[in-house]
Amino acid sequence: MTRQKEPVRKEGNPPAHVAFVMDGNGRWATSRGLPRLAGHREGIANVEKIAIALKKRGVRYMTIYMFSTENWKRPKEEVDGIFDLLVEWFRDTVPCLMAQGVSIRHYGKPDRLPSGLAEALHEAAATSRGDDFVLGLAIDYGGRAEIVDAIRSVVSASHGGEHIDESAIADALYTSGVPDPDLIVRPGGELRLSNYMLWQAAYAELYFIPVLWPDFDELELDRALKAFDERHRRFGGL
Ligand code: IPE
Ligand code: IPE
Ligand code: MG
Repeated sequence: MTRQKEPVRKEGNPPAHVAFVMDGNGRWATSRGLPRLAGHREGIANVEKIAIALKKRGVRYMTIYMFSTENWKRPKEEVDGIFDLLVEWFRDTVPCLMAQGVSIRHYGKPDRLPSGLAEALHEAAATSRGDDFVLGLAIDYGGRAEIVDAIRSVVSASHGGEHIDESAIADALYTSGVPDPDLIVRPGGELRLSNYMLWQAAYAELYFIPVLWPDFDELELDRALKAFDERHRRFGGL
């Protein structure tokens, strides 16, 4: 038996939770003869537009994969540049999002992030009120690391492990309390999850498109939502 949250969506309704892999920022920039960081700037700026568009369409949860546990392998200059852009975004844009009823959550561990970014994430999450629309930011996020952390915490809280079940693990994930994504959208042309929401993706509908994230606009969003609406979800039943 599992107490895991049932998907909230009914046929014809928007998905409750849409999760995105923000991919293709680098290629967007290089194809224009620009430095990769220009693509990251454009990609980060696009998060606000898509969040507001999803909120208007009645979606309650959006998650965006912004920096993976594997992205530390990139040149230091790019990693530092991405973090600087994120700090700027927290300063200039996140307060506007929050003023429009968007709550912020961080999925990942703050420990390795520059202190300015870790503080900005903490501050935004701590001052978020309500759950009209929850924007989850997966930063220094890895699906495997998340599962390891969850197992550590349930093992330390359980006596001998006999009470460990699917719901205990789900409740110990970074996304605790958030329904699993109904739809995972990956722009950028790659057909993989790259360590994203490995547990939560169990029954997500997957949508892959070649469009690069900075070009992912409301038209593309509506295409993704329409494709989702046309899927028949069975969850193992008939
Ligand atoms: C996604 O864009 C952002 C991060 C992974 C930080 P990429 O930087 O992966 O862009 P491409 O895939 O190289 O074009
Ligand atoms: C996935 O994109 C990680 C994020 C978007 C944060 P990557 O560009 O790192 O994925 P791979 O390397 O193509 O699998
Ligand atoms: Mg990429």
